[in-house]
Amino acid sequence: MNVTPLTPHIGAEIGDVDLSHPLDDDALASIHQAFLDWGVLVFREQQLSREQHKEFARRFGQLHTHPLNSEGTGDPEVLVVKTTKDSAYTAGNGWHTDVTCDAFPPMGSMLYMSRVPGYGGGDTMYADMYLAYEMLSEAMKELLDDLVAVHDGALPYIGAYKSTPPEGGYPKNEHPVVVTHPETGRKVLYVNAGFTSHIKGLNPDESKVLLGILFDHIATVPRLTCRVSWQPGTLTFWDNRCTQHHAIWDYYPHERYGERVSIVAGERPGI
Ligand code: SIN
Repeated sequence: MNVTPLTPHIGAEIGDVDLSHPLDDDALASIHQAFLDWGVLVFREQQLSREQHKEFARRFGQLHTHPLNSEGTGDPEVLVVKTTKDSAYTAGNGWHTDVTCDAFPPMGSMLYMSRVPGYGGGDTMYADMYLAYEMLSEAMKELLDDLVAVHDGALPYIGAYKSTPPEGGYPKNEHPVVVTHPETGRKVLYVNAGFTSHIKGLNPDESKVLLGILFDHIATVPRLTCRVSWQPGTLTFWDNRCTQHHAIWDYYPHERYGERVSIVAGERPGI
């Protein structure tokens, strides 16, 4: 297995692996270590059936069922990521961490791309939330360390996607603003513009300003990021506990199609 970094701190291409065959324990351990080291792993030229995609993901844990469920495949464990000229929106077209409205947000997601836009575009940017935290001033870190934020599924799913909520509404949960990655022990800035509605204990104006500073920090510091250009057969596996991503919709009126499988985390985000 070859590991080729995309930047010194986030993202790596993993070569010489065929994910369509069951991986032995050594190969799996190497991928797991690379996942912890680089946060975003890119596997090229894979030929995977939906079942093989799910089988690879299951090696890392139980599969997650997305609150928006299974438009398109009939499989609640598969989220279709499809954009056409008739799309009103593209899933993930803004900085976010997947499904942080859940009490147990996914530990990781695997997106397998099968159709890419005919004239280029459609990359995904990823941002390193360890570095985002480390780059803050000591005074800001001290302020954030004890705060808790609310993450609300209504924000993207109703606000942006205009979907009809299920009975009882979309999930809404609280998580610390700074969490500790359960495997690496490193601190992570854990608010995202997709789901974080407000910070508890602050008045609304204070919460808005503070979140605005943090969202701007994530969105405007290129050093935090790496960028993945997709080809048919690319599978990208990201650590949802320490990265954010942004799918770029720069290819209208062309089409893009992928399927995403996510893995349930074993623990809630904690300090
Ligand atoms: C997502 O998982 O948010 C979509 C990512 C993408 O389409 O690149």
